[in-house]
Amino acid sequence: RRIAVIGGGQNAEHDVSLATAAAVAKALCSGGFDVDELTIDRDGIWRRGADALGAKTIPSLAAALRVIERADVVFPAVHGPSGEDGTLAALCALAHTPMVGSDLRAGALGMDKWATKLVARDAGIRTAPGRLVTAAEIADIEFETDAVVKPASAGSSFGVALVRDASQLREALRRAARFDDRILIEDVVAGREIDVAVLREADGRRWASPPLEIHTDGLFDTRSKYDGSARFSVPAEIDGTDRAALSEAALRMFDALGCAGVARIDFFLTGHGPVLNEVNTMPGMTAESQVPRMFAAAGLSYEQLVARLVDAATV
Ligand code: DAL
Ligand code: MG
Repeated sequence: RRIAVIGGGQNAEHDVSLATAAAVAKALCSGGFDVDELTIDRDGIWRRGADALGAKTIPSLAAALRVIERADVVFPAVHGPSGEDGTLAALCALAHTPMVGSDLRAGALGMDKWATKLVARDAGIRTAPGRLVTAAEIADIEFETDAVVKPASAGSSFGVALVRDASQLREALRRAARFDDRILIEDVVAGREIDVAVLREADGRRWASPPLEIHTDGLFDTRSKYDGSARFSVPAEIDGTDRAALSEAALRMFDALGCAGVARIDFFLTGHGPVLNEVNTMPGMTAESQVPRMFAAAGLSYEQLVARLVDAATV
């Protein structure tokens, strides 16, 4: 079968998306699939392999659609806004082409940390107390207590800051506002950082991976996410009660957002059980990323994982 893998994208996670797409394409090739590698450059021009498909966005997109037309399945390996947020899912839906992963609704809800929080609260899953502010309100925000400032929509911790005193607050808000004009100010949650992945198979069954714990010297921020300094333990050493609570919360979030394919659900494990941090509907998928590591611990190789995702693609 012919698979169109899309990488790159027009946001801060461009390079991460290239790495995910390259790993996915390689695994699909060695699994015997025919692969077309499409890339969205930072300026919005589409490429096939190394070749630009046009000199401007729309002609290059039109040419990319002809590549997509020949594909049996599209694998949109683009993290962040204008990709993971449902944009590419919408393109595939309009083109009536089966696609790996979540649809427009789940992508958009998962990309927006405020929307995710509202859904989680309603589904009975704890999240950090927080509030939403807009870029226009930054000048009026007063420091109350230690807080985490995040753009509502971004990934890989771009624009995220831990604020410990009043002098840092406004700068943190302004940095976050470079990524989104809606910003979250959340209480700091003290807990172990634990991820759980959920995979939805072709027959509709979905199951949670073993949990993974992230160990860092400081914050699991953009730098430690990609400089190799973070250590993972898989499966994480967690007692049965907490493990069951994590799996249950991960599955409930996956279902509440209506996710498909694979999603990585990130938690803090506190003394009172899991607190949801966020949901990634197109999580990092290099061979070293958390998701492949978690499924490897469940006995699924990277090649098997991407093949199952292709099998589970939906229109
Ligand atoms: N947003 C990054 C790619 C992740 O979730 O792994
Ligand atoms: Mg994320």
